[in-house]
Amino acid sequence: MINRKRYCIANFKMNLGFQSGIMNYFSDLNNSSVRNNSSVGIIISPPFTVLNQSIALSEISKIDIDIAAQNVNDNDSGAFTGEVSVRMLADCGIGHVIVGHSERRAYFNESNKEINKKNQILIKSGITPIFCIGETLDQRQNNLTKITLKEQLTKGLNGTGNKEIIIAYEPVWAIGTGKTATSEMIIEAHQMIRNILNDIGFDGEKISILYGGSVNRNNAKELIGLEGVDGFLIGGASLDAKHFCDIYKFIEESV
Ligand code: 13P
Repeated sequence: MINRKRYCIANFKMNLGFQSGIMNYFSDLNNSSVRNNSSVGIIISPPFTVLNQSIALSEISKIDIDIAAQNVNDNDSGAFTGEVSVRMLADCGIGHVIVGHSERRAYFNESNKEINKKNQILIKSGITPIFCIGETLDQRQNNLTKITLKEQLTKGLNGTGNKEIIIAYEPVWAIGTGKTATSEMIIEAHQMIRNILNDIGFDGEKISILYGGSVNRNNAKELIGLEGVDGFLIGGASLDAKHFCDIYKFIEESV
């Protein structure tokens, strides 16, 4: 069996500012019993406004933590009010960026083409995309899961080369709803994704595929035991550092 790297990744979305969260979050992490090793990566994705502070806090943290951004613009620079470029993120020391999250696809009309540009520009700059894919409930009920995943992967990864990337399978209907996909659905989707990756010129066995969608400390132990699941991208449950640490420990125990 190939030993793919496992990940425990927090996506704070539009939560936790400086005074209102990050400081306490890092102190809770440091006071926890978590002392990670290199086989499980811990990544935290705070809002843009606290990326710099988060990097500074991660540098003095007792735990090895990488900081990711939640988005990036697909242009190099220019008149794009309110946007942030890859170079700006690289300047801050960001090593990972979430791309193609279903909330960005749904609320900000991000297309596969735009997502592809983001993946390309990040990889070119040496930043690893945490590339999110997943079907809506409608697509699943109409047997369109495989077609949807294939389209997202094929278009999203076009021209990126077989470079380092993390995939997050997040069925849209499981995000923030308290409904996780069933074990069968998750195993099947992760295998489907690996097969598609192989078909389009990647080595699916070497790419970490995370599950996201209502992961919490009560279901994490079972979910990390599923074949093909290499960790989690966690929204709501990651906002409490103690819950995040508990989820991390289940991943660590599974290695
Ligand atoms: P929840 O864990 O809140 O369902 O969110 C998942 C997610 O969107 C992570 O990116």
